[in-house]
Amino acid sequence: MGRTSVASLKQRMNKEQCPVIVTWNVVEYRKAAQKHVEQTDVVLEVGCCGGTTTSIIGKQCDFTMGIDQTQAEIDIARKRFGQPGHVEFEVMDAFDMPAVLRMQEKVGRKFNKVFIDINGSRDIGPVCDCLDKYQKVLRPELIVLKSIKLKNLLYQCVPWDEEHSEQTEEAAEETKPSEGAD
Ligand SMILES: C[S@@+](CC[C@H](N)C(=O)[O-])C[C@H]1O[C@@H](n2cnc3c(N)ncnc32)[C@H](O)[C@@H]1O
Repeated sequence: MGRTSVASLKQRMNKEQCPVIVTWNVVEYRKAAQKHVEQTDVVLEVGCCGGTTTSIIGKQCDFTMGIDQTQAEIDIARKRFGQPGHVEFEVMDAFDMPAVLRMQEKVGRKFNKVFIDINGSRDIGPVCDCLDKYQKVLRPELIVLKSIKLKNLLYQCVPWDEEHSEQTEEAAEETKPSEGAD
């Protein structure tokens, strides 16, 4: 993830937060799956559609589950990639956290990484709401998110920190009118 590692991001987080990798499109999203999923991981993909990314994740770890609100997509995913006990699919609303928790309990393992793709071009509001819910309820180690608008916004933003504060003070000092000047 560029020059910032997942480990260094973790140092800046509070207990409710985890590093979030934001991808623009399915190519980046799947590359992130290949880079950040390890054998012992238990991974949930939220918005799995026909299951292609879930199956890529499944090649790299012991257990993965894909959920989607559309029954027809889940039927396709099960037919193409379903392997009970290894790659599984369930119909579920991404925002129904009690149902997600019930499913985690049924599976009997904690999802330690979560991939979220509830339509990459949708507005930031519901995407951030979804992100917040999964951070707080599942407390995973890592979330990978697909959202064009959020990634664009991130490129626009610079977090305020002391470094910037000092720079601004220096700049203000430099632009101060000298004594005696009009
Ligand atoms: C772009 S597709 C996912 C593609 C898939 N992640 C992949 O990489 O192959 C987005 C999916 O999000 C699902 N989706 C959108 N809103 C949802 C919600 N509230 N709950 C569950 N699934 C949702 C849609 O049904 C759709 O299948």
